[in-house]
Amino acid sequence: MERTCIIIKPDGVKRNLIGEIINRLEGEGLGVRAIKMINAEVETLRKHYAAHIDKHFYKGLEEYLMEGPIIAMVFEGFEAIEKARELTGHTDPSQASKGTVRGDLGEDSIELADREKRSVRNLIHASGTKEEAESEIKLWFKKEEILK
Ligand code: PPS
Repeated sequence: MERTCIIIKPDGVKRNLIGEIINRLEGEGLGVRAIKMINAEVETLRKHYAAHIDKHFYKGLEEYLMEGPIIAMVFEGFEAIEKARELTGHTDPSQASKGTVRGDLGEDSIELADREKRSVRNLIHASGTKEEAESEIKLWFKKEEILK
């Protein structure tokens, strides 16, 4: 069994899409092992997005993730990382396929976001690799917050 870190970003929370997004992940056979609603802190975001800190969109990304509460979760299941990534869809919602969270529910595009000098609003984060999943789960959760 594999574990992955999922974050519903502030637009997903504001648009009342928490249930819809969890439903889609559960529908893929993935189960919640940890869940919390929090306000993301700058230091945690810097660690989470360390690979992107020098990119042109980073400042906007930090502002976006701090616009309101987020839902941080750990999901577990067979091939959880790949399944959750498939379900998440392309980074740019305007390019994301139908059937994915970003393709069905996203309302933004990278082109528009770049023009407006802000981060693209794409509802959800899902770990990309096993290593990322492990470090993200450790970053967002204490050991005792995760179901054994
Ligand atoms: S890249 O450029 O290939 O590294 O992009 P990617 O790995 O898909 O995404 C990096 C994270 O930054 C968020 N983000 C953006 N990516 C690309 N372009 C723009 N303008 C942008 N704005 C924000 C993107 O959603 C990724 O974060 P997560 O949380 O994983 O979705």
